Order: sequence, then C-alpha cells, then structure tokens
Amino acid sequence: MSKKKLVFSGVQPTGNLHLGNYLGALKNFVSLQKEMECIYCVVDLHAITTLQRPSVLQSNVLETVASFISTGLDPNKSIIFNQSSVPGHTQLAWILNCVSRIGWLNRMTQFKDKAGSDKEKASVGLYIYPNLMAADILLYKATHVPVGADQKQHLELSRDIAQKFNNDFNCKDFFPIPEPLIPKNVSRVMSLRDGTKKMSKSEESDFSRINLKDNADEILKKVKKAKSDSEPIPENLSNLEKKPEALNLINIYAELTKKSLDAALSEVAGKEYSFLKTKLSDALITEIVPIGKEIKRLLNDKAHLMQILKKGKEKANIIAEENLKNIREKVGLI
Ligand code: TRP
Repeated sequence: MSKKKLVFSGVQPTGNLHLGNYLGALKNFVSLQKEMECIYCVVDLHAITTLQRPSVLQSNVLETVASFISTGLDPNKSIIFNQSSVPGHTQLAWILNCVSRIGWLNRMTQFKDKAGSDKEKASVGLYIYPNLMAADILLYKATHVPVGADQKQHLELSRDIAQKFNNDFNCKDFFPIPEPLIPKNVSRVMSLRDGTKKMSKSEESDFSRINLKDNADEILKKVKKAKSDSEPIPENLSNLEKKPEALNLINIYAELTKKSLDAALSEVAGKEYSFLKTKLSDALITEIVPIGKEIKRLLNDKAHLMQILKKGKEKANIIAEENLKNIREKVGLI
C-alpha cells in the first residue's frame, strides 16, 4: 500500500540556536521541504517538563520560529506552529499514555540522564515525555521523522506505540510506522573546546559554539581559539579520527562547502591548522552571518512571527482534528 509521505519534526524552544542545531536539523528540514509535505513544530509542551520562566519560554518560542524562517523554511510550504496551540497533542498523548508501557519508558536513557541522581524529584511530565513525542508524530500520521541521533530511542518507542495501538484496536496500518531520518555525516557537531562533547547551548563557555546570531568578528575569534594542536593536519582519515577536535573542524568545513570528508581533508592535509581555520571561518561567515542578521530582523517584528504561528496552527489543527476523530472512534470514545 503506498501512503503519502509526510514529514514531522519537533524542536525544543531554546533561544540562541547554534551551528549544531543548524547543520544537524534545520538545514535538513529545509531540504526535506523541497521534496515532501512537512510539519515543523516548536515543542513548548516538551519544554515545560522542566521549569521554565514564562517570559523566557515565550521569547524562546518566537526565536525558534525566527530561526526556522531565517534558515529557509517557508511558512507557505511547510506547516510551522507551536505544539500547545493544537489541543490534539495533549489529547492523543493521554490516549497513548494508556498504550505505552511503564517497562518501555523505564528503558529511556534520556530520562535517566536528564533526571540525574534523584529521579523521585523529576516531573511526571519528564518521565512520560516520550509518549507526548509519539503523540506529536502520530497525530499527523507522519511517515518520516528527521531527528538527531540522540532521539533515536524515542523514535523507536513511537514506533512501538504505533504498532501496539494498531494491534490493540485491531486496525492494521492505521498509524503508519514512522521512519527516522538521521543525518549521517553531521548528526554530531562537537564543541570547539572539546571534540568529544556535543556542541551545546548549555556548555558554559560561549567559545565552545558558533551561535546563529554571532557576527563575523565573533566567528573569527571562536574559530581561531578552537582547540587544535601544533602538529600538521593528519594526512588520512584513520589518523584524523584519532583527533576529535581536528575531525570536528574538518567535518564542519566539509558540510558547509558540500564536500565529502575525504575531499575536505585532502585540501588541508599536512598543512597547519591556521590554514584550515581561515577557510572554515570564511565558510562560516558566508553562511551564518546572513542568517543571524535575518533572525535579529525578524525578532523585531513579533507580530509577523505571531502571524506565522497562527497560520500554522490553523493548518495543523485541520489535520489533527480529522485524525483525532478517527482515533477516538477506534478507541471507543464518544
Ligand atoms: N524530543 C525532541 C528533542 O528533544 C523534540 C521533539 C518533540 C520531537 N516531539 C518530536 C522530534 C516529534 C521529532 C518528532 O529533540
């Protein structure tokens, strides 16, 4: 049976998106938009599983939308909205809470990491977060889900939930089993200070990341200061792989210039790091600075951003309502 392809992905509303978010997610969203129908959701309900300052949450949602648009998502092509504005997400989440199993959730490694040593003190929301993520996807009967490698386990849970729903309610193929789309080469952009850690908003030093709103000077400085060593750049991939910081810089360079890792390495092999760093900052400045400018411009036009969310909500709601009607029927809810 051939079903229509539909992409869904969710992004947590954090202010200050960085190069890792861009190369690992947003850029991929933009290219998918050219091939398929896409729904991109700012997941504010996921965000509140840990305490958020209300005003900060609001501005983070708007900044995430601004980053979507600035990197090339088109609100006339893709559906862009915030999760809490479509009530179907929480309604389906409740139904799926009753399909999903405690044993399944207990295996989720992200909960273990996020809840830390005192799990009794984590919110119930944080624990059942993966069920809400399944609801996000299944509410639209999405077939393809672009996510980072860290979300693979959650996506597998969504697949298990879809399968169990289809079995429990005797409706084979009702929910499509969603396929993950995990970027191969750059699923991980690493910290500029420690090539074994992911680039992250929460790392203390701002020198560890390139923010989408960084200006040319900041990018230059950060790349200059990025960790490297005094030996020449390795000549081959297997030696490069022993140097996580060098590998990361070349990976980023390759990705920005649309070259294979091999081709990028052969351009800089045997040279000093300063040679690579000049090329890398040029490529970063060309690609990132215009995006940052556009984000800042859009943030000054909140009404426009709100309008985008409103339009997205209306479109999302139509699909959600229709699917939810059928879901309720399957479950026997009047
Ligand atoms: N949990 C995802 C993350 O932290 C965000 C997310 C929420 C999501 N719902 C989703 C991703 C549905 C893909 C599909 O990155």
